[in-house]
Amino acid sequence: MKGALTIRKSKIFTALKLNANKILESEIDRSIKLGAICKLLKDNVRYYNWVGFYAVNKERPTELVLVSYMGEPTQHLRIQFGKGICGQAATLRKTLVVQDVSKEDNYLSCSSKVKSEIVIPIFRNKEIIGELDIDSHSASPFTLDDEAFLKEIAEMVSEFL
Ligand code: SME
Repeated sequence: MKGALTIRKSKIFTALKLNANKILESEIDRSIKLGAICKLLKDNVRYYNWVGFYAVNKERPTELVLVSYMGEPTQHLRIQFGKGICGQAATLRKTLVVQDVSKEDNYLSCSSKVKSEIVIPIFRNKEIIGELDIDSHSASPFTLDDEAFLKEIAEMVSEFL
């Protein structure tokens, strides 16, 4: 049987997917769409404290460039593949969930408040074109529901990155 928290979370995620779809279908500029998606996620999920999109640099295909975010400013505007959680997710081309960043050696810290992080690669035609990155001030907040939800968001955003 599913717990009340899981049911509440799945309702929120369903509503957020509908809202994200509305944002992406609207007649606004691509970069405003990405910012609006970051804001939507950050404002509606208590433990999503920093939400951002990195894009793979077309001129330097082993570099990620921060293109949109909501949350505290970060010094990590460009990240090389292999460096930090983001760079590792890009090299491995897979979702990385780090429930306790203090245990991760290859980690680029943005703020001492961050306790956990999830990074979802974004693909277009099977090629990695960027990532959705979320930092949390809570420890171990991410479940398989978050992962599935954020993968759907990443797929939806793929044509706009
Ligand atoms: N912590 C990330 C760097 C990006 S920030 O979270 C915004 C990492 O280790 O790759």
